[in-house]
Amino acid sequence: MNLLVTGGAGFIGSNFVHTTLRDHPECRVTVLDALTYAGSRASLAAAGDRITFVEGRIEDVALVDRLVGGNDVVVHFAAESHNDNSINNPSPFVTTNVVGTFTLLEAVRKHGRRLHHVSTDEVFGDLELDDPERFRETTPYNPSSPYSATKAGSDLLVKAWIRTFGIKATISNCSNNYGPYQHIEKFIPRQITNVLSGRKPRLYGEGKNVRDWIHVDDHNAAVWAILERGQPGGYYMIGADGEQNNKAVIALILELMGKPADWYDHVNDRPGHDLRYAIDATKIRQELGWRPRYTTFREGLAATVAWYRDNAAWWQPIKAAVEAKYAKHGQ
Ligand code: NAD
Ligand code: TYD
Repeated sequence: MNLLVTGGAGFIGSNFVHTTLRDHPECRVTVLDALTYAGSRASLAAAGDRITFVEGRIEDVALVDRLVGGNDVVVHFAAESHNDNSINNPSPFVTTNVVGTFTLLEAVRKHGRRLHHVSTDEVFGDLELDDPERFRETTPYNPSSPYSATKAGSDLLVKAWIRTFGIKATISNCSNNYGPYQHIEKFIPRQITNVLSGRKPRLYGEGKNVRDWIHVDDHNAAVWAILERGQPGGYYMIGADGEQNNKAVIALILELMGKPADWYDHVNDRPGHDLRYAIDATKIRQELGWRPRYTTFREGLAATVAWYRDNAAWWQPIKAAVEAKYAKHGQ
């Protein structure tokens, strides 16, 4: 199988490439990535010359047409992915997430290729802390931020192309990922690299917000289950029953890293901050037999702390600039 992986130099995409080379050596992998601030060739260094790397944008009609035409399956990770950035400057989110996905869809339609579209649970908006409901495949879309609105837009385009043009596509909506190669602007690696740099972790507001954490390898195993056994036109929620509030996550990071429990700062909250995400992953568990391998958050988080400790050369050069950007917003 010839696989085109968009966004393969980012966090989840690079882990997907490494997993694929290890577990599916029969696949030929081409990565299309614009190498924005979030993409890094260093994240693919371990793949060596076993992949073809193409630097380019998913809105580039001619390039996308050629690459989609030359592969059997497209796995679409490329996106602008950080909520805080989308609040400060929404424009690239519309271009990449909406126009870029549209460009891929048109090429997939023209060449009759299979597409898997990787999306987020944030398209459904948020839940109250005590709501017994969790997000399911049938939950209505209700996004809150420019990031989640543009991801919702991309999902709706894929759904329309499935229904109207009959393209062979699937969609997954996953909860918050953590693991190696995650950009240090994101919550968990920001706090780990803060502690490794002698800075206190930074908690937005009171820290009551809940996220449903999943290790990136479990997410990618679910994507592979969909590629191999998913229903054409099917939608799948991916989550590992990993609900934690932000305060508890910081407490666990501090404990794992040998710091006092109160060694963190409260900083400005995010405007429109979603309160809680939670996934009901019954469908993918029952239909495709997928199960998360990381059974405890502590185990996955300890492995992630060790990865950032061992790979300082990957993140240290950008740490000061990431923190300077947050400081401008009192965060
Ligand atoms: P990331 O920001 O780490 O990586 C995104 C990658 O896409 C980068 O390598 C970047 O260079 C590339 N890219 C950006 N714009 C591009 C463009 N116009 N053309 C080509 N490449 C471009 O993101 P991530 O966290 O790895 O997320 C990957 C996908 O998974 C996204 O679609 C995101 O919405 C989705 N998702 C993420 C999470 C999460 O917790 N991180 C959870 C669920 C779903
Ligand atoms: P983030 O990693 O940005 O993911 P998302 O907003 O897409 O869920 O943030 C996860 C949670 O952590 C979110 O509730 C915001 C919060 N947060 C902090 O408390 N401190 C931080 O420094 C960051 C970056 C996020």
